Formats: sequence, C-alpha cells, structure tokens
Amino acid sequence: MKNPFKHHEFLEKNSIILLIGIILTVLVGGIVEIIPLFRKETVIEPVKGVRPYTPLELAGYNIYIREGCYNCHSQQIRPLRDEVTRYGHYSLAAESMYDHPFQWGSKRTGPDLARVGGKYSDKWHVAHLIEPRDLVPESIMPSFGFLMNNGANLDMRPHLETLKIIGVPYSEDMIKNAEKDAKAQAIGEPRGDTTGLMERYGEKVNARDFDGQPNMISEMDALVAYLQVLGTMVDFEATKDVDPSTAETNMASKEE
Ligand code: HEC
Repeated sequence: MKNPFKHHEFLEKNSIILLIGIILTVLVGGIVEIIPLFRKETVIEPVKGVRPYTPLELAGYNIYIREGCYNCHSQQIRPLRDEVTRYGHYSLAAESMYDHPFQWGSKRTGPDLARVGGKYSDKWHVAHLIEPRDLVPESIMPSFGFLMNNGANLDMRPHLETLKIIGVPYSEDMIKNAEKDAKAQAIGEPRGDTTGLMERYGEKVNARDFDGQPNMISEMDALVAYLQVLGTMVDFEATKDVDPSTAETNMASKEE
C-alpha cells in the first residue's frame, strides 16, 4: 500500500516550507472567519422598533458629537447586574446600528445615557443643560445655555443622503422631506403638521416644542429631541426575540 503521508514527510523535514504552510493555513482560516463579520447583517440581529433617527434627532446627534458629550457620557449598558439595575435593559447591538459613528464611549464622568430618553421631562433637560448645578448642585458638567440662542441647522438632507450610502435605510421620501420633517417635529401639533413625519418615522416619534421657545427652532430643541429618543425605540416588554433567560432576570432585578 502507498504511504498516504509521503508528501507530509517532505514538509516535516523542511522547516521553512513547513512554516510557510502553517502561515498559509492560518491565513485562510482567519479570512474565512473574519470576512463575514464585515457584513452588518451577519452580526446584528434586527430588533423590532429600531428605526433611523428623524432629521431633528440627527441634528441633535451632531450637536452631541460637536460638544463632546461622549467625553463624559457612554451610551452602552453592559449586561451586568449593577448596570442593568441602574440604567435599564442592557444595550443591544441593533440599538446603535444606525449610529455612524456609534456613541458607546469609554468614559463615564457622568452617567450612561443609552436609556435617558423619557427619564426626565424636556423642561428638566433644558434647565439641566443651561445650568447643571441648578438641579444637581455637585455637578461638574459644563453649561450649554448657548444652545438656546443658536438656530439649529435643519438642512439635514445631505447627511441623510450620506448615511443612506453607508446602509442606513432612509427612503427617497425621507430624504426629500428632511427639512420639513425637522421643522414639524420641533413645532409639534397643533401649530405644525406632523402627519408626514409620523407616516415616515412612526407614531411613537416625539413631536413638540422641546426647548420652550415657540418662536425659534434652536440647537437645544434638536439636542433634547435626540436625548428623549435614546433607548426608547425597543419595547422590551413586547420583545421576545431578545435572549429570554437573561431578559427576564433583568426585568426581575428592576423590580427588586
Ligand atoms: C465634563 C464632563 C461632562 C460633559 C462634557 C457633559 N456632561 Fe452630562 N453629566 C456630567 C456629569 C458629571 C453628570 C452627573 C451630574 C448631573 O446630573 O449634572 C451629567 C449628567 C447628565 C445628564 C443626566 C443623566 C441622568 O441620567 O441623570 C444628561 C442628560 C447629560 N449629562 C447630558 C449631557 C449632554 C447632552 C452633554 C453634551 C452637550 C453633556 N452631558 C456633556 C458630565 C458631563
């Protein structure tokens, strides 16, 4: 019978050739494992309720980045009991799938903001951003009162178009109506018409005068609209496609 390992003997006796063979094998294995991960669909499980930001929220997201809020705030709740008890359900990958760049952050001088949406009133946010120490005397957060006097940049069409190129599912309709939707959201009913906005982004969209200055759409409006949507898109009570074993313990720990 022929020795099936005849050629292997050649490899074993030539260390350089063996080394090259090892490198090639590891390389192929590595590529096969890594390449599929570059495709978002293979790593992020879609979760019901997660939608792209409205143009006004996106304008607020831009201000959040411009002002460096991420230097002191993270947006990522880790699946650890203390974090879940304090901030709510741990963050899902899908919740930041439309953030480019994501705002997970690595520094918590202030608290995590991944689920700050709906935790406070608009009034609270406005007062807090104008002068954090009025509400939290020991706060070291800077004042952002000037946002009240800056008109928000509502020409969001180019940003929506760019995000669409990298895979955020903005429709032609959303892009075309970007500025109109931004205005409608910052004015709200009954002074504005939010029908189109709700059709495009869903009934749950917060549409109102966020900063309490009805005569102006300020950067404060945009930033508060953004803060108020953070972590509110997924309805965890109704979502069963999240790992049920851990989700339930977390829900239980919230009630303790
Ligand atoms: C120098 C660090 C720092 C920067 C920059 C900063 N914050 Fe804060 N933030 C804090 C600290 C500390 C707290 C906790 C005390 C307090 O509530 O003021 C806080 C609290 C908050 C809270 C309340 C969170 C909660 O759950 O109680 C919000 C909302 C917030 N910051 C938003 C922002 C936004 C938006 C920006 C950017 C415009 C920003 N912060 C920039 C340090 C910072």
